[in-house]
Amino acid sequence: MAGFRVLLWFVKWTIILAVAVFGIHFWLSTKGYVFSAQSISTIAQKHNDGGKDRSYDVRKAFHKIHQDLSKKYPGHILAAKDLQWVFMNAGGWMGAMCLLHASLTEYVLFFGTAIDTAGHSGRYWANITDAVLTGEFRQWQEGDTVHHTWGEVTAVNFKAGTWMVEYGRGFIPSTLSFALADTLFSTTDFITLISICKIYVKALVLEAGYYISQMF
Ligand SMILES: *[C@@H]1O[C@H](CO)[C@@H](O)[C@H](O)[C@H]1NC(C)=O
Repeated sequence: MAGFRVLLWFVKWTIILAVAVFGIHFWLSTKGYVFSAQSISTIAQKHNDGGKDRSYDVRKAFHKIHQDLSKKYPGHILAAKDLQWVFMNAGGWMGAMCLLHASLTEYVLFFGTAIDTAGHSGRYWANITDAVLTGEFRQWQEGDTVHHTWGEVTAVNFKAGTWMVEYGRGFIPSTLSFALADTLFSTTDFITLISICKIYVKALVLEAGYYISQMF
């Protein structure tokens, strides 16, 4: 009898999970998106180091990209006073990120590292595009824009002084488990963990505010 109940429980949750996955998948493939990988990449490449320009200042580039994005996507980009660089540990590598936009299905952020670092890419339920501004980010392939399609995994290698603009599209809450696992179970740097969660919530509130303002 107990065996039967366990089986029933298992079947029930399998069905609930399957319906949820199918529902989210359907939603992702039919909904409209604010950004496109192409437009983020175009804005980023306008401010890249143009083939290792020695006087290149990535801080200035980030500032300009933030301005361009705020102009092009008003109401969707966090204000300059809300931008915050935080360390990020995931997949064995360590970098720093600065979130510009996040919703349940998209995010835009600056990412990079001042030291050489490498590890696992993570397997996401999201498509990720990286527009490299300066430095080198290797993922078994080369070029200015690196695509990471959902479900795929690779080894990643960031050279010291590599900075990029990253765009993710998919089921973003699912990427958080990878993004935060190292912080939670390895570095136990809870200050960073709280900072990341706070910024994500801030971005979600901004997004919610945008849609509410559109209703009136
Ligand atoms: C992610 O990329 C795959 C392959 O290009 C595509 O089929 C899928 O629709 C993309 N997902 C989203 C949410 O854009």
